[in-house]
Amino acid sequence: MFRFGLLTSGGDCQALNATMRGIAKTIYRNSKDKVEAYGFEDGYQGLIYGRYRKMEWGDFSGLLTLGGTILGTSRTPFKLLDTPEADGVEKVPAMVKTYRKLKLDCLFVLGGNGSTKTANRLREEGLNVIALPKTIDNDTWGTDMTFGFASAVDIATRCIDELHTTANSHRRVFVVEIMGHKVGWIPLYAGIAGGADVILIPEIPYDMDNVIDTIRRRDEAGGRFSIVVVAEGAISKEEAAMKKKEYKKKVAARVQPSVAYDIAEEISKRIDHEIRVAVPGHTQRGGEPSAQDRIFATQCGVEAARGALAGEFGYMIAQRDGKMARVPLEQVAGKLKYVDPNGELVQEAKLLGISFGDE
Ligand code: F6P
Repeated sequence: MFRFGLLTSGGDCQALNATMRGIAKTIYRNSKDKVEAYGFEDGYQGLIYGRYRKMEWGDFSGLLTLGGTILGTSRTPFKLLDTPEADGVEKVPAMVKTYRKLKLDCLFVLGGNGSTKTANRLREEGLNVIALPKTIDNDTWGTDMTFGFASAVDIATRCIDELHTTANSHRRVFVVEIMGHKVGWIPLYAGIAGGADVILIPEIPYDMDNVIDTIRRRDEAGGRFSIVVVAEGAISKEEAAMKKKEYKKKVAARVQPSVAYDIAEEISKRIDHEIRVAVPGHTQRGGEPSAQDRIFATQCGVEAARGALAGEFGYMIAQRDGKMARVPLEQVAGKLKYVDPNGELVQEAKLLGISFGDE
């Protein structure tokens, strides 16, 4: 008998179901032994409280195009892993118990950075774990790509595209807030794909003077509008120099709390222009996966299943230099993958005339 468990953890994305389909189909098709599959509900919570459902081959049909997660998800912060649940349940021992009770041969964890850290902890407890790199943010260290990212970029790009016509009609500046609290991969990619004039990301603190200059130059050259893409975590040079506590207080005090409104207000004080804000928000995580995501999710699923059937555990599936790869969990845990301000894409965007507000 080959018994495996699946859970989806952290913020959802479009390609979770497609990935689980890839894992399950490959296992059912290639296992020499009979297969038993268990799906844990709502992320690690299902593993902690033994909330699972036995799944069959047919449960994994029709999932390639289905967004969200059929298992549900939740956030179980790594820093609270050793703090008991409100009802006193100790998380890690409870998870190990459920795994052992079901006699699992492998647990597949589809999650982002925090979830991968927890997966590594479970590995240290002796469980056979394989992690798969989920997140629209693309900020997982050790892999060139995460599933969810390509779909989110497509949605964010479409949003920016659609703002062009109305911005042009009304001679407006649009400030578009794109997801990414700590890293700016989606704003960077969608900003370039959507023809943004300014892209502000957490990795490159901006100076408002430079943003205003860019808008002014466009106006002087006869442009009717400007599109300013801001990451959720866009930060000014001034804010970057603040004490962490002071900056956190400032963020907490924001209306919404949205950086886009702050930036729009700041722009409106300094330039005579009609300004509007657009926040696509969680639409960036919703709906069906893009074609690129479906392919990558499938590859991740197949590779994870292949490893499990070979009895190899303790790593995260990754893509490195265009090839599928494995990265030991202890190497990935706790590291974020940031946009390199001196990297090729940022430099090319600058040559094209996109401002990052830093110069
Ligand atoms: O982790 C992905 C992400 O979508 C971030 O880009 C975003 O800031 C955050 O999750 C929002 O998460 P939620 O509203 O689900 O807590």
